[in-house]
Amino acid sequence: MTNRIAKPFLKWAGGKTQLINDIEKALPRNILTGKFTYIEPFVGSGAVLFWMLNNFPNLNRAVINDINEDLINTYKTITSKPNELISILEILQNEFHELEGNDEAKKEYYYKKRELFNKRKMTQCEQGALFIFLNRTCFNGLYRVNRKNEFNVPMGSYKRPTICDKENILAVSKALKKVEILCGDYEGTLNWADNNTLFYFDPPYKPLSDTSSFNSYAKDEFNDQEQIRLRDFCHKLDTLGYTWILSNSDVKGKDENDNFFDDLYSDFNIQRVDARRSINANPEKRGALKELLITNQSIERIYA
Ligand SMILES: C[S@@+](CC[C@H](N)C(=O)[O-])C[C@H]1O[C@@H](n2cnc3c(N)ncnc32)[C@H](O)[C@@H]1O
Repeated sequence: MTNRIAKPFLKWAGGKTQLINDIEKALPRNILTGKFTYIEPFVGSGAVLFWMLNNFPNLNRAVINDINEDLINTYKTITSKPNELISILEILQNEFHELEGNDEAKKEYYYKKRELFNKRKMTQCEQGALFIFLNRTCFNGLYRVNRKNEFNVPMGSYKRPTICDKENILAVSKALKKVEILCGDYEGTLNWADNNTLFYFDPPYKPLSDTSSFNSYAKDEFNDQEQIRLRDFCHKLDTLGYTWILSNSDVKGKDENDNFFDDLYSDFNIQRVDARRSINANPEKRGALKELLITNQSIERIYA
């Protein structure tokens, strides 16, 4: 058994590690003091999920969800078959590392594994291992699929990347034991809420420019209509008495007249916090940016 602290096992666009201090400040004290349920409807790599699991022993139950079936399949595999997954990942890692120094052979290996993954004919465990392999070896850890749901990110240029982090997989598997894992649209998570529930939403961000493609995680785009549907869902949760926190990009930072989110969430508390994006092909665009943290709690409650 392992005593390691579980951390995200994937690189994921919009990973929230950088925002955790601000999220911590925004947590509703009244909920966290008792037993509570934590629901994360857009889980991605789960940076906030693992932080919550590690820091709040009175977290009674967690529910995670994502629309990406391959991602959720990988979470389920880690939970139920960590050792089988580790065995496959060790083989993939050894084979890939042996090709170090021979770029052509590495490429050939990568594209063969990508093709195999896209056939989606392997066992759940093998698909999960291929998903982790591709995430660790592809360009910038991006996840992008075409209209046919085929993963189409080219190979990255990492030397001997860690593909099998055995200790962490075991720690994650243990941590996920009290987590309900769902796959589908975020609205389905409402069925899992109880009296003392906190929702954290980290949807695909509204792009700051036409070329930034942070929101292409799935074959269906998360456009402005989708952002509005999410606001409506947040309103519904508010009316039902649930507490939520939501993050998104600060489009005002790019264009000060852009009031998209200020208008959309005018009934709630909007904070602007510093954030640094790690996934951006252009290093010049990796500078300090603001992000939005929006919540339906009153400010007095946050700082009480
Ligand atoms: C910004 S990422 C979340 C990143 C995460 N917080 C992390 O730390 O890695 C947004 C996620 O929303 C998922 N998604 C997109 N549309 C969705 C929908 N309608 N319902 C549920 N999940 C969705 C994407 O697959 C993606 O994993």
